[in-house]
Formats: sequence, structure tokens, C-alpha cells
Amino acid sequence: MKTIDLKEAYLKFFESKGHKIIPSAPIIPENDPTCLFNTAGMQPLVPYLKGEPHPQGKRLTDVQKCFRTNDLDSIGDTTHHTFFEMLGNWSLGDYFKQESITWSFEFLTKQLNIPIEKLAVTVFKGNKIVPADTESVDIWKSLGVNENKIAFLGEENNWWPNMELLGPCGPDTEIFYWRKESQVPEKFDPEDENWVEIWNNVFMQYNHEEGDKFTPLKNKNVDTGLGVERVTAILEGYTDNYKSSIWKDVIEKIEEISGLSYDDEKYARSMRIIADHIRAIVMISGDEAGIKPSNTDQGYILRRLIRRMIRYAKKLNIDISSNWEQDLAILIINNLKEIKMKY
Ligand code: SER
Repeated sequence: MKTIDLKEAYLKFFESKGHKIIPSAPIIPENDPTCLFNTAGMQPLVPYLKGEPHPQGKRLTDVQKCFRTNDLDSIGDTTHHTFFEMLGNWSLGDYFKQESITWSFEFLTKQLNIPIEKLAVTVFKGNKIVPADTESVDIWKSLGVNENKIAFLGEENNWWPNMELLGPCGPDTEIFYWRKESQVPEKFDPEDENWVEIWNNVFMQYNHEEGDKFTPLKNKNVDTGLGVERVTAILEGYTDNYKSSIWKDVIEKIEEISGLSYDDEKYARSMRIIADHIRAIVMISGDEAGIKPSNTDQGYILRRLIRRMIRYAKKLNIDISSNWEQDLAILIINNLKEIKMKY
């Protein structure tokens, strides 16, 4: 399944469950000067998660352009990206755990035909605010997920966004996929990095306020996020996102201009960083806000990404006085222009 088909399938599936398809917000938040970038699908929806009625109703779905700089150090591995797309569906005080979990499971196993044996889930083990989420466990089990594939984890893993950030938050259940070709282990070990997180279903019920107060929100909401890049790689049978159709031509171009091979582990990380950063650079530069490299805010991040990309290009002996970055940018623009046109 191609990426565009994955997005279409997702939106159509949730439309068939009564959701309205809404457009992606820009990467640069329009009305929130406290955040440099939209980092998740829920971010543009914060006022509605807090109780303001959304003009499109209580069930929403979209493909959101996301940008994260908090795990810049992870960039260069095979699954993290600075810019990525997140498929999401939301219930604003409408359905809750039963429907959310059932639909996620149905989409993965019936629409994408992912074998149930390759899936595992984590659920919240409880804290001073909410008890252990046995309700989600019961729903997962009723769908056929084996007890061995369910792990209870604490605040550091299954509370979104975390216990520090202010705003809407809550416990979540996360879905993992076994990405290795080898036999799926009998028991799910969330520490094993071959289990890759693909979908997060957050049961957003609290507003974290100053003074460590967790006040119940007006509504019990659902906020989910499914990573397009990770799922595309899974559907195409790769354990490395950069081998999937999203990145293939970019990596090939980097191989061509450097004269080096991606299969050589010595160069793979640098190639992934260049591929990630050029995509992120193109997407911030092309965003509605028209960001230019500068010393402040988003412009500073853009400048850092450009510098970092050049540093890694030099490591690969790429001739940086050539048009190498334009050649790469054109590939990214061609691959992503459908976002601009459709979502
Ligand atoms: N907000 C959650 C996340 O980003 C679910 O979408 O993981």
C-alpha cells in the first residue's frame, strides 16, 4: 500500500465511523505563541479538547503535519523523524475507550491486514490520579489480544504528553508492532526495540494546571496518533523507515552524489540525518508562515538544521558547492506536494 493510499484508507475508515475529515493545520501554530511547532495532531485542537464546541462536531479525523525537535539526538536511527505526518482521530466528549480501541484494532487488522500476532499493547498501570486501566485491558482481550502481549506501564510511558507539561492530558494505551522477520516472541517486552510503537490512543480527561493540579476536563476525550512513516515502512515490509517508498529516491540521490552506499553501516546514519533534515527544511520553509533562517525561534531551528545537514554532507565528502541540496529538495517537494493539494 502506498503512503497516499494509507492516508486515504485511514480517513475513509474514520469517516465511515462518523468522523468529519478536517485539514491539517500548518506546522507553525497559528494562534499559540507558546509553541514553535505543531508537534502532534491534537495541538491545534487544544481549545476543543478543553470544551469549546468544534464547528465540525464531536468526531474528527485528519493527517497532521508534525515537527519535533525534542528528540533531535534520535534522528539518524531508523524510526524517528524531525518532520512527520500523523494520522489522527478524535472524540470530543463523544465515544471513549471501547470504540477507540475497537476501531484502532479493526483498522490495523482488517484494513491494513496486519496479523494480530505481530501486535502488542501497553496500558496505564495507575497513579495518584487514576487507577490501573483494566478497562482497556478487558477491551484488548475481548478483541483477541493475548494477555502475554499486554504490558502495564507507568507515567513515564503511558501518560500523554507527560506529567510536567500543562494542558489537556491523560492515560493512554499504545500499540506496538514486531518489525523483525524472526519469530514474534511469546511475551511482549516493551524494552525490546524491535517492538516499534505505531499508535497512541490517549484518554484525555484532565487539564494539568499550574501548582500540579489535574482538573477533570469538561469532556472525556479521545486523542489518537498513528505515524505515517512507520506504518508505511511496515506495510512495505521494511524494518528501516528510510528504505520505504517515502525516502527511497532521496537515499538513492544521496548515494549518487556522495558515491557511497547506504548499505555500508559507516555511512547510513549520516545519510539518514541528511534525508531527515532536508525534508524538515523543505517543510518549514514551505509552511504558510514563510520561515527564513534566522537567530530566533523557528528561524533558528531552520538554521540549525541546515548547518547540521551540511556538516553531515561534508562527512560524506559531498561537494557542497554543487546543487546537491536543490536536487534533494526537488525530490522531497515532488513526494510531498500531494499533502499541500489534498490535506
Ligand atoms: N497526542 C498523542 C501523541 O502525539 C496521540 O496523538 O502521541
